Amino acid sequence: MKKLMEIMAEELSSAFEKAGYDPEYGKVTVSNRPDLCEFQCNGAMAGAKAYKKAPFMIADDVVEYLKDSRVFSAAEVVKPGFINLKVKEEFLADYLKEMAEDPKFSVAQAENPKTIIIDYGGPNVAKPLHVGHLRSAIIGESIKRIGRFVGHKVIGDVHLGDWGLQMGLIITELKHRKPELVYFDDSYQGEYPAEAPFTIGELEEIYPCASGKSKEDEDYRNEALEATHLLQQGKPGYMALWNHIMQVSVTDLKRNYDNLNVSFDLWKKESDAQPYIPDMVQAMKDQGFAYEDQGALVVDVKEETDTKEIPPCMLLKSDGASLYTTTDLATIVERMKLYDPDEILYVVDKRQELHFIQVFRCARKTGLVKEDTRLSFLGFGTMNGKDGKPFKTREGGVMRLERLIADIDQEMYTKIVENRSVRDKDATETAQIVGLSAIKYGDLSNQATKDYIFDIDRFTSFEGNTGPYILYTIVRIKSILNRYVEEGGSLEGIQMLPAVNNSQKNLMLELTKFGATVENAFEEKAPHKICAYIYEVSNAFNSFYHETKILSEEDQAQKESFLKLLDVTKGILETSIDLLGFSAPDRM
Ligand code: ARG
Repeated sequence: MKKLMEIMAEELSSAFEKAGYDPEYGKVTVSNRPDLCEFQCNGAMAGAKAYKKAPFMIADDVVEYLKDSRVFSAAEVVKPGFINLKVKEEFLADYLKEMAEDPKFSVAQAENPKTIIIDYGGPNVAKPLHVGHLRSAIIGESIKRIGRFVGHKVIGDVHLGDWGLQMGLIITELKHRKPELVYFDDSYQGEYPAEAPFTIGELEEIYPCASGKSKEDEDYRNEALEATHLLQQGKPGYMALWNHIMQVSVTDLKRNYDNLNVSFDLWKKESDAQPYIPDMVQAMKDQGFAYEDQGALVVDVKEETDTKEIPPCMLLKSDGASLYTTTDLATIVERMKLYDPDEILYVVDKRQELHFIQVFRCARKTGLVKEDTRLSFLGFGTMNGKDGKPFKTREGGVMRLERLIADIDQEMYTKIVENRSVRDKDATETAQIVGLSAIKYGDLSNQATKDYIFDIDRFTSFEGNTGPYILYTIVRIKSILNRYVEEGGSLEGIQMLPAVNNSQKNLMLELTKFGATVENAFEEKAPHKICAYIYEVSNAFNSFYHETKILSEEDQAQKESFLKLLDVTKGILETSIDLLGFSAPDRM
C-alpha cells in the first residue's frame, strides 16, 4: 500500500505537470505550522528561479489543478508561495480503513527477504546477569522482532561467553572448597552423575569470590589460568564440571530471559567456535595474511583512510592461546557454514567497538565472509544512575538484573494499588507486566548509542513519555471497547466514517504513519523511533478521548465509527509494543 505522503506527492506532481511545470517540484512535507494546515508543498518556491517567476504565481497555477482533488480538501497559496494542504476527511477514512484490513497494517514486506543473525544478550556463563547485559537483550530482541515483522528471516543467537577465565576461576575455587569431589581425581575418566555439585546460588557466590581472590593472590590466579588451560585441553574432570556449570547456569539464564520476554533461537556459545580455529588460522597463514609479531600471530587491519590507530588483529598469543578476537572470527566461520547469513548484527556495548572493527576487517580481508555479507555493529551506551555514573545498588554494589526488576515491580505495585482497588494477586501480576514496560520503554526510548539515566521514578510514572503511560492508554481503549461489547455491541463489520473534529483527524493522521515508522526503525536499527511514534499516537488518542463523547454518542453509525477508530488505534499500539518486546495488561 502506498504511503499517504507518496499519494500526496503524486497529486502535487501531477498538478505541477498539468500547470506546465516540472513534476519534481511536487514534494510534500509535514506542515511546520500545524495550526494552519497539515501538510505543505514548497515546490513553487524552489521552482521560482528556474521559471523566472514569482513563487506565488507558480503556486496559483498549481492549486488550480488541485481543486477537485480526491486527496485534498484544501490547497491554499500563502505568500510568498507556499502551498498549504489539508487532507480530505473522506479520503483519510478510506485510507485508514484499507490499511487496517491487513493484520500488519500494510507495513511493506521485504522484497528480497534476508537471513540476518543477531548476536545479542552475550551473557557470561556462571557470572550473574547484571544491568549491562540488560541493554543488549532489550535492544536485540526488539530489532529481531522488527526485522521479522518487515519480512526478514532473523535468527537470534545468545552467544554465551563460556570459554574464558571465569570457568577456570570457578573450577579453582571449587577445588579449594570441595577437594574430595571425584572430578578432581586425576584418574577420573568422565562418568558423572546428573546432579550438579552446587546450586545456582552457590555458583553466583563462587564466581565473585574467586575473582576477588585472583586479583590479590598471584598463585591463585596462576592456578585458575592453568585450570582454564586444562579445561580447554579437554581434561575429563574439568569437562564434567564445565557441563554442570553450563547446565545450572543456562537454566537460570533462560528463566531470567523469560521474565524479560526475551527469547533466542540459538543458544550457541564461544566454545562451539573453538573447533574452527586451527583451520581458520592455518588458512590465514597460508594466504599470507597472518604473520608473527613478537611471538604472537597477527593480521594487519589498518586502512589508509583511518584517522585513528587501528592495531593489528591478534589471533594467537605467544603461548598459542586464542583470544576473544579469535573466537569471534571462528564464530563467523561457523555462522557462514551453518546459516549462510546475508548479515550478522552485533548488539554489544559500544566500548567494544574497536574489537569489532578489527574482527570485521579481518573477516573481510581474509575472505571469511562473502563480498556482500554485511557485518554490522550496534554499539549501545551505558545505563547510568541518577548520579550520572554506571548504575549501582543503593549500597554501591553492582546491580543484579533480578534485583533491578524486583525494585521496579515493587514500585509499580505500590502505584497500581494506590491508583485503584485491584485485587492483590491481580495487582502483583499487573505490576510485573507494567514493570517490564517501564524498563524496556525506558531503555528503548533513548537512541541506543547514547548513555542514559535509569530513573525508576520517571520510568514508572503513568504520565509523560513512559511505558506505563502507553499501557495506560491501551488499557483505557480496551475498557471502552469491552464496555461496548458487554452492552451487546459488536466490533464486527463496523465502519469508519470521516473525522468529525480536529483531534479525531489528528489521531487518524498519526495512525497512517505506522508503516513508514516501522520500516524506518528497521532500516536504521532504531527502536526508539517506534517509541517516539507511539507516544505521539497515545497523546493524539488521549486528546481525542477527552474531547469526544464515545459510548454516549447517540448516532449509532457515528458511535460505531469512533469504536472502529479505537479498535484500529489499539491494534497499532499493541503491535508496536510487541515490536518493542512487551505487552499490555487488561486492567491497571
Ligand atoms: N560476553 C561478552 C561480554 O559480556 C559479550 C559478547 C558479545 N558478542 C560477541 N560476539 N562478542 O562482554
